[in-house]
Amino acid sequence: MKDVKFQFENKNFVVVGASSGMGRHITLDLARAGAHVLAVARNEERLQEVQKSFPDLIEVQTLDVLEAGPEDWDRVLGEFVEKHGKVNGGVYTAGITGMTALRMYDDDLAHRILDTSFWGMVRFIQGMAKKKYAAKGSSYVVFASTAAHYGNRGQFAYTAAKGAVLSFVRATAKEICRSQHRINSISPGWVETNMTQEAAKVDSIIQTEHVFQRYILGTGQPEDVSGAVLFLLSDAARWITGTDLLVDGGSLLGTD
Ligand SMILES: NC(=O)c1ccc[n+]([C@@H]2O[C@H](COP(=O)([O-])OP(=O)(O)OC[C@H]3O[C@@H](n4cnc5c(N)ncnc54)[C@H](OP(=O)(O)O)[C@@H]3O)[C@@H](O)[C@H]2O)c1
Repeated sequence: MKDVKFQFENKNFVVVGASSGMGRHITLDLARAGAHVLAVARNEERLQEVQKSFPDLIEVQTLDVLEAGPEDWDRVLGEFVEKHGKVNGGVYTAGITGMTALRMYDDDLAHRILDTSFWGMVRFIQGMAKKKYAAKGSSYVVFASTAAHYGNRGQFAYTAAKGAVLSFVRATAKEICRSQHRINSISPGWVETNMTQEAAKVDSIIQTEHVFQRYILGTGQPEDVSGAVLFLLSDAARWITGTDLLVDGGSLLGTD
């Protein structure tokens, strides 16, 4: 982000899924812009690695979004707010993927995929939007996927989870606007992270040139998405809510 300088001094954000990939990069970019960030995920070691770069600005909290109920979010957010004041926004990137072809899917995996991307996100936003934690005009960014727009073959659970995220954003924008809060989603295309590395190992279809040909700007890196997230969190996006931003290297345009 050489052309645009975000200034988030004296602002507080929570990033869920901060131990890896895009969430990690967003956490570091927010701290670079001066914000206090609460970095949440399960893997403590990787969270501490992230914290090392900005020990005065990044705090870490281990939490499994599949298990975290309202009381857990109350504890985690309550402690952060007590230290730094109300929160100006949050980013939810936690997600897992996996093959769930209709003819042979694992019920438990399908539910975990939906629970991680969708229900975990619902509980996070429910906690964050409470008056006692949210500063006026808070901004939330949650992660959908291009999969929700075209449907990943053999991945109905992942596609449905991300479709549900898009619908949640539209409905919830209308509910939280009373406090001038905003919520938007990002739909990334193929970004090189742990998730895509793992996915490529198990699904030979997505490694074919045919898929990558759609990326007229090439495939992405976490920094190609982070700037869009910081923009949506910033005052520059104060009139934007209930929408989805495709950050996909032009992959949905088609090659014809
Ligand atoms: N990479 C892509 O090409 C791509 C494309 C479209 C959409 N997306 C979406 O973008 C988001 C970020 O993906 P990424 O590629 O950056 O993935 P990633 O590198 O695998 O990171 C996923 C993050 O989610 C956290 N997480 C997973 N399950 C969790 C749980 N139960 N509780 C708490 N945290 C959990 C992981 O942390 P721990 O393991 O430490 O818990 C990790 O920090 C995901 O929602 C993904 O679906 C990715």
